[in-house]
Amino acid sequence: MAAESGEKWVLSVTAQTPTNIAVIKYWGKRDEELILPINDSISVTLDPGHLCTTTSVAVSPSFTHDRIWLNGKEVSLSGGRFQNCLRELRSRATDFEDEKRGIKITKKDWEKLRVHIVSYNNFPTAAGLASSAAGLACLVFSLAKLMNVKEDYSKLSAIARQGSGSACRSLYGGFVKWIMGKEDNGSDSIAVQLADEKHWDDLVIIIAVVSSKQKETSSTSGMRDTVETSALIKHRAKEVVPKRIKEMEEAIAKRDFPSFARLACADSNQFHAVCLDTLPPIFYMNDTSHRIISCVEKWNRHEGSPQVAYTFDAGPNAVLISKDRKTATLLLQRLLFQFPPQSDADLNSYVIGDKTVLKDAGIEDLKDIEALAPSPEIKENALTQRYRGDVSYFICTRPGRGPVVLADESQSLINPETGLPK
Ligand code: DP6
Repeated sequence: MAAESGEKWVLSVTAQTPTNIAVIKYWGKRDEELILPINDSISVTLDPGHLCTTTSVAVSPSFTHDRIWLNGKEVSLSGGRFQNCLRELRSRATDFEDEKRGIKITKKDWEKLRVHIVSYNNFPTAAGLASSAAGLACLVFSLAKLMNVKEDYSKLSAIARQGSGSACRSLYGGFVKWIMGKEDNGSDSIAVQLADEKHWDDLVIIIAVVSSKQKETSSTSGMRDTVETSALIKHRAKEVVPKRIKEMEEAIAKRDFPSFARLACADSNQFHAVCLDTLPPIFYMNDTSHRIISCVEKWNRHEGSPQVAYTFDAGPNAVLISKDRKTATLLLQRLLFQFPPQSDADLNSYVIGDKTVLKDAGIEDLKDIEALAPSPEIKENALTQRYRGDVSYFICTRPGRGPVVLADESQSLINPETGLPK
């Protein structure tokens, strides 16, 4: 048996997995261990070209224990969530053979073989952009490929769910629903794709990464406190979300932007309201977040119909979804007017991702930002104040595809000789 023979081979797989932003939020568990939610949720997968995790996983008879390196640093794999994912994957591993390299691994060998996992985000982890969702989904997806797990993506989503709830929605591109399920063992708490990323490709997404010095409450402990202390969350999970899920599915199917925007904004606001209804109250948004909401609300009102939807997760960053490219350029102009960069900033690192939005907005250097005029609805409200430096940077992106295997060996993060990070 190959796994015992002291052979030197290292077998590896590399995959790339997107992050996602919920437009109907998951907040609250009915089972902490299995990570089972108290309501369904719906998300948009973000283009992995701008925000994603790349993970390489390897197996070798010479590895002595399971190890993981995240963004260049080795971290412990002993946490219950990692262990649950590894156990679930190992129990579903199947026989593998590479005749050319003389590698043969049987289903039973996988129980004893140890793995190395090396993972990088293509965006700063500190920005608080759902890195755990992309990270855990990528870990599960790449290990499933390595171990020749034959289950479909919805079964893999149920494994990723046990790493981090929101991770289960990163197994698909486009628009994704996490069905809460009814079973106690979690077998029906899975993610399904509602529509792929091509279904509604007019949408353009701008993320404002908001400067913040405050240490935020983690989602895991925040939602635990909410479930224990908030009366509002019960009403939300039982009465509000089920209705919104249906309406949101319909809005996505019909590409009905006004309904999509109304539902996404209302749901983000209610999520932050249940955070305030928690004891002690949780504040994820800050003054900058509130100013961004006002800017969008005033503009939408001025136009008489929604141009842009906003949504905020467990932090102050704004995710702004505009109905089309033209609207996205107008949005970017408004954002840059209100939140110009520090005078010594570099425009190239102030607006990242899909730079064509910046170009279409007619902004080629910092002087163009200074020359921007206030938009009509801002002038009307005498709100021409500018908040320099309150946004760290903007990311322009769009709905994107699901996980993929990167077949090109040169993209592997693992040295094929040593099995260690490159
Ligand atoms: C506000 O998935 O990070 O982003 O399941 O405890 O790991 P755990 O929590 P996590 O919570 C995400 C909460 C949210 C809303 C959402 O993504 O639906």
